Amino acid sequence: MNIILLGPPGAGKGTQADRLVKERGMKQLSTGDMLRAAVKAGTPTGLKAKAVMDAGQLVSDEIVSGIIGDALDAMPADQGAIFDGYPRTQAQAVSLDEILDARGRKLDHVIELVVDEDKLVERIVGRYTCANCGAGYHDTFKQPKVAGTCDVCGSHEFKRRPDDNEETVRTRMAEYRAKTQPILPYYEAKDLVAKVDGMADIDHVGAAIDAILGE
Ligand code: AP5
Repeated sequence: MNIILLGPPGAGKGTQADRLVKERGMKQLSTGDMLRAAVKAGTPTGLKAKAVMDAGQLVSDEIVSGIIGDALDAMPADQGAIFDGYPRTQAQAVSLDEILDARGRKLDHVIELVVDEDKLVERIVGRYTCANCGAGYHDTFKQPKVAGTCDVCGSHEFKRRPDDNEETVRTRMAEYRAKTQPILPYYEAKDLVAKVDGMADIDHVGAAIDAILGE
């Protein structure tokens, strides 16, 4: 099964993708995570992407579609993919169809996380991850069981994303409205879109997604 999780910054795409990876053995293909890894490694792609990401704008379609094609090629052919943060433009949506066709895959669902943007700023500026294992936390919604200690690996070091400040978040949301939301009709015409209330708590959002995906 191949699915897209679509929604603005902070909608919960990464949170739900993590869960699907653990519970269904699917592979999360997050262009944001892959770009951040390229920035950290100082690759040519990372060097091109860094300033654009820090400003909250979109990296070029060619770069991200190339990354997705390479990531699919590195996966077993029978493993399902969760596209998290991709596609984000009409050109990327068309590229994804070509990329999937060329690999004998098809898209099964596009899950739109419907959210109240005003509340997302709090979600984003409050989130942080373990610097060691990447487990995600939030100042209000998801704290470690023991303060200052990662539940998963026991590390005491945490980090925040440089683009998770309010000003950049507002730019990222404007990019979503201008460039990503308009691709929904492309998938609605293919009868692939299911809407989920992304403002419900994390478990309820997960249950709603499971109901769409089935067993
Ligand atoms: P990317 O990394 O994709 O960031 P994003 O889309 O802005 O999404 P986020 O990761 O911020 O949010 P999310 O929906 O995953 O929310 P999360 O689950 O973490 O992209 C970053 C940048 O990379 C872009 O700005 C761009 O420059 C570039 N880029 C990436 N892909 C690109 C592409 N295809 N084309 C061009 N450029 C690209 O949840 C947020 C917080 O809320 C967490 O703390 C979580 O615990 C909490 N939370 C989640 N769900 C709930 C809930 N239901 N209730 C309460 N709290 C919740």
